[in-house]
Amino acid sequence: MAINIKRPNGTEDILPKNIHKWYTVEKVAKETAECFGFKEIRIPTFENTDLFLRSVGETTDVVQKEMYTVMAKETKFTLRPEGTAGTIRAMLQNGLLNEAMPQKVFYLLSCFRHERPQAGRLREFHQFGLEMAGSASPCADAEVISLAKRILDKLGLKNIELYINSIGCPVCREKYHKALRAYFENRRDELCETCQSRLVKNPMRILDCKSPICSEIAKDAPLILDYLCDECSEHFEKLKTYLTNLGIEYKVNPKIVRGLDYYTKTVFEFVTTEIGAQGTVCGGGRYDGLIEQLGGQHTPALGFAMGIERLLITMEKQGLDFLDSKSCDIYIATMGDAALEKAMVMARNLRECGYCAEYDLVGRGLKAQMKYANKIESLYTIVIGDNELAENKAKLKNMETGEETVISLGDKFTDDVDSVYISKIIDSLEDEINPLAENNNGKENKENG
Ligand code: HAM
Repeated sequence: MAINIKRPNGTEDILPKNIHKWYTVEKVAKETAECFGFKEIRIPTFENTDLFLRSVGETTDVVQKEMYTVMAKETKFTLRPEGTAGTIRAMLQNGLLNEAMPQKVFYLLSCFRHERPQAGRLREFHQFGLEMAGSASPCADAEVISLAKRILDKLGLKNIELYINSIGCPVCREKYHKALRAYFENRRDELCETCQSRLVKNPMRILDCKSPICSEIAKDAPLILDYLCDECSEHFEKLKTYLTNLGIEYKVNPKIVRGLDYYTKTVFEFVTTEIGAQGTVCGGGRYDGLIEQLGGQHTPALGFAMGIERLLITMEKQGLDFLDSKSCDIYIATMGDAALEKAMVMARNLRECGYCAEYDLVGRGLKAQMKYANKIESLYTIVIGDNELAENKAKLKNMETGEETVISLGDKFTDDVDSVYISKIIDSLEDEINPLAENNNGKENKENG
């Protein structure tokens, strides 16, 4: 039987040529979160399955259909389908919730959901997310939404709509569930099997069922906004005022219910129509009951997560800039063993100064080495052969302009001072000030430097 060692469906390899795009999103997201006082948390890739049953909810698609669960020595573990449950578990387990409130953490992690793969929908995907625990105020909702918006803006993303809704608290839910049951009861037989059981246990989940028939039936279902209690209504109104004050445009979309059970009050999504059906680049909301549900004190909390793949697809589609990928600063081409030995030390010294330096490791001829230097887009090259060694000089070539500068190789190349000397040359060339004259000698520079 043929062995299949290919990458599983719905997973992706992130190749070196694209990694700078990931670094761009990660850097912007992290730095923005830090500006708002959030600190990074790292949590395990898998958790006890019960954690997700308790938090994400037993009647959600994620738990019912999409979790990767393994039985290991009689314990059930699940690869995290999202980051909130594990993060709150970690905050509880490590006593973070006993410290000064609000507690604010962010994370970058991979998630696993056994969904039908399509553009922007993967089985392993990556999230940048954050959670804030300890504030019941709608200011916190506005704060978290404005943080998400700031990240999207800093990445340069355009045409992204913010949709907000309130899905109330257990008080509003009681009335709302009744209304939903009454509505769906009439068409019970047309619902998928899962939704028929949801009708009894958790009718709100029918609203985000992915089956086309259920979504069609759900179109005219009663809206939660019509059932909000006074406290939830007031919270929502204040949030809207704060967003307006902050200049953040939004649309109220009473149909957003989110696919996870822990939400209460505010829910929100940032959506683009530019990348097809999977256009939600960020989703989040408040979950005031979750911490208590997981065994902690009653602690209001909220957060969001962004799908990094979806952000990248949108950025590419919009032709946005990414941070430059790190390329080689200086390639040292060599002819002969003595030159190679010199190049090894030279590269070490340059690297100690923070430059990316490379030399030939596979025995190429000079022409092929120069071709390689071009391919890796080295900014500068130096060629060292017997003549250069004898004269103690070599040509440093700027690969973009073709300009060549003769540099002294220095007489004690193993000396650290020489690396400072070479890096100074590169710096001066880059700044286009005082390129070293041919008669400058290394010693003099060493002494001055
Ligand atoms: P979520 O809406 O399930 O929320 O996921 C957040 C984001 O992850 C989505 O908006 C989307 O960009 C991305 N995403 C979700 N599923 C996939 C997939 N299969 N392939 C690619 N990207 C995907 C949560 O996970 C909540 N934990 C967010 C949160 C944090 N709420 C409060 N705090």
